[in-house]
Amino acid sequence: MKPRKIRDGVLSLGAVDWDRRLFDGLIPLPDGTSYNAYLVSGNRKTALLDTVDPTKRDVLLENLAGVPSLDYVISHHAEQDHSGVIPAVLEKYPEAKVVCTPKAEGILADHLGVAKDRFLTVEDRETLSLGDRTLEFIFTPWVHWPETMVTYLRESKILFSCDWFGSHLAQSELAVTDEGRVYEAAKRYYAEIMMPFRTVIQNNMKKIKELQVEMIAPSHGPVYEKPEFIVESYRDWISDVPKNRAVIAYISMHGSTEVMIQRLVSALAANDVPVFQFDLADSDIGKLAIALVDAATIVIGTPAVHVGPHPKAASAAFLANALRPKAKFATLVGSYGWNQKIAEQIAAMIPNLKVEVLSPVICRGRPHKKDFEALDELGAAIARKHKDARLT
Ligand code: FEO
Repeated sequence: MKPRKIRDGVLSLGAVDWDRRLFDGLIPLPDGTSYNAYLVSGNRKTALLDTVDPTKRDVLLENLAGVPSLDYVISHHAEQDHSGVIPAVLEKYPEAKVVCTPKAEGILADHLGVAKDRFLTVEDRETLSLGDRTLEFIFTPWVHWPETMVTYLRESKILFSCDWFGSHLAQSELAVTDEGRVYEAAKRYYAEIMMPFRTVIQNNMKKIKELQVEMIAPSHGPVYEKPEFIVESYRDWISDVPKNRAVIAYISMHGSTEVMIQRLVSALAANDVPVFQFDLADSDIGKLAIALVDAATIVIGTPAVHVGPHPKAASAAFLANALRPKAKFATLVGSYGWNQKIAEQIAAMIPNLKVEVLSPVICRGRPHKKDFEALDELGAAIARKHKDARLT
């Protein structure tokens, strides 16, 4: 994309990555992504806010071709999808300084080899004048790295939020045009990247509440002309109260676990608990992560494989433990041949989750009448737990 004006003196000149399908070697990107960089020009100084992923270096440098001088590169976040082209920008503009938090300085030096004399570190709430425009830096540690900050452009009331409020979504339009599509992409982004830092984000939300924000310009996905759309969505996602929903992530080898899961889903449905069911043999882990944002109960379904749970079930438990969703209850359903400890083994994999572990249902081989009855009772028990907690 060529540079586009988003406000007077503010250009968007990053890159859209339509074809990227995986991030961090892990996260599926069904809709691609973008690496947004912004140029803010005052009547005395000019600042570039973030760069782009190294794979899009040429796009950014081409977009900077008409920019004769640059005083500052604001680095909100040292992860390379935003910082990776800083060395090339510094080479193009020998006078430019990298503005970042003290924590980011060390990370950028180590990862990118930026020389010490090119840094200008700032403190929380420090301002930088570009003449008739003022950048205010607000530290947001652990959103989602320890060095992260955001920038508020006072005169235009724009919050440049970097990853925060972002979405992995490639589109030609600069701003949100389809709220449903952006909601899904932003929730996926939150689930995969931000959810482990939910309580930190709760505190950081207070910082931006004090600001008059008329636009949020993240570093991935479209710009929000109506900031309340994404801010209210975040408030819902980061709240401590889950919804009356169960997520079931399961894998089955010879069908026993599968029929047990089907019975549990029926029991939950009969007790008015909506279920999000994922067969781990072929599931988008991004969709699983999205479902974990709101779920009150997590169910892992697995057969025993040799002396442990199925590796795909273990991987789902590991993922849930890493993402730290707000779920209140967890349990396990599965079958075994000789290892009866799969429930304890999975429970040991989720120490980060503050959940009450409900009695599992496991059986040897295929389930029988008593196992189906136990699954009916588990569904009813989950529903009672949700009702007692007044979840809706
Ligand atoms: Fe978009 Fe944390 O990098």
